Amino acid sequence: LASSLAGNYVSAAKAIGAGVADNFTAIWSRQQAEKVTLTKDNTAPEVNIDFDLVAPDQWVWDTWPLQNRDGSLANIKGYRVAFALVAPRTYGWGERHTHARIGMFYSKNGKDWVYAGVPYDENKAYGHMQWAGTAMLDENGKVHLFYTATTDMNAGGGKAWNEENWTSRAEQRIAKTTFDISADKNGVHLTNEGDHQIILQADGKYYETIQQFQNKGNIITAFRDPFFFRDPNTGKEYIIFEGQAGDNYAMKPENIGDEEYRRTHSVPDRAALYNGNIGIAEVLDHDVSKLKLLPPLVESIGTNHQLERPHVVVNGDEYYLFTISHTFTYAPGLTGPDGVYGFYGKGGLRADYKPMNGSGLVVANPASNPYQAYSWMVLPNQQVISFINEPRDGNGNVKFGGTFNTTLKINLSGDKSEVGKEEQAGEIKPFGANR
Ligand code: FRU
Repeated sequence: LASSLAGNYVSAAKAIGAGVADNFTAIWSRQQAEKVTLTKDNTAPEVNIDFDLVAPDQWVWDTWPLQNRDGSLANIKGYRVAFALVAPRTYGWGERHTHARIGMFYSKNGKDWVYAGVPYDENKAYGHMQWAGTAMLDENGKVHLFYTATTDMNAGGGKAWNEENWTSRAEQRIAKTTFDISADKNGVHLTNEGDHQIILQADGKYYETIQQFQNKGNIITAFRDPFFFRDPNTGKEYIIFEGQAGDNYAMKPENIGDEEYRRTHSVPDRAALYNGNIGIAEVLDHDVSKLKLLPPLVESIGTNHQLERPHVVVNGDEYYLFTISHTFTYAPGLTGPDGVYGFYGKGGLRADYKPMNGSGLVVANPASNPYQAYSWMVLPNQQVISFINEPRDGNGNVKFGGTFNTTLKINLSGDKSEVGKEEQAGEIKPFGANR
């Protein structure tokens, strides 16, 4: 079905072709990133330090809603469904990454969420820990859960797991499983768990492998955070993910900036080791189990090491490619806030993406509370969800979060954005007809 549909759409897509080659990778340059500044249009309101916990015995962080194949939010007999990384609060805040699982939440009103536990058999899942992903409800009512399987049998070249030194061994592969879904007055249920499959691995050409990473010696490698995306203009399907440059990671002049900028700015040593990219693979089958890696959509070599949890919002022939990033992952000589960044392309998914608002910054933590929230996700209706990370109270003391943050609206207009009104914690509204 998917491929015949795709066939019909191809000519339409060509008509609005983005005018770049199939292997074109847009660049987020140092010159562009240097323009990152906090303004009233991109700064989030302060987190209220008296927040409630959505799942009192769990740390809860990266969150994503169940989406239909076309990206709209799924409606399961009047329930919204969301997934989030979870780890028992018996572990320390910093330990949660190495004990991460994916939990399921549901809500009748899109505001009050019930935590329903980890829906899969932990012994069947890939990875020592499961990291972020997305979830797609197909037209037959199957839920496809895409996730990151972190640290597998090859981790650290086969060396044993070591909690202290895990970042050097955090090999990541992209995996999926499936469920049936049902709802009744007792809530939403995921049953009939399918096999777990590895669907993507770093190739060493476009995307850095753990071995390449270990040879370079950097913060942490990335091949993670799959986002399922069906292009409404072509019917083609993709998995978009966070990667790092593989064998082609040398800095090019364009990674720095234009001629004038290059003449007047020096690049610190080691900047080239900050080699993030937004990866993409084409889906070849209807079950989303056969994929082909393609060259990245965007790269930030020399600019930023991590373009995490990339995701796409489409408006006609405008493509908004959002990603989250950290202060500590900026390359030497550059800085910016923990926030969500956006790239704007026109005419097709493979486009000459330009950083939104000139710099890329879309929503940032306020300077007074720079680590209060993280892992923003812009939903198709321009609601932005995130989790409470490390807010400071009035005395400057950090209170660990681990729960849903208030939702923000953003207004998008061409390549510009502005932060709009604040909504309830974890709020996800239905939008459009029958959603
Ligand atoms: C973002 C992130 C993701 C990753 C997860 C691990 O908050 O770094 O890229 O999947 O956290 O905890």
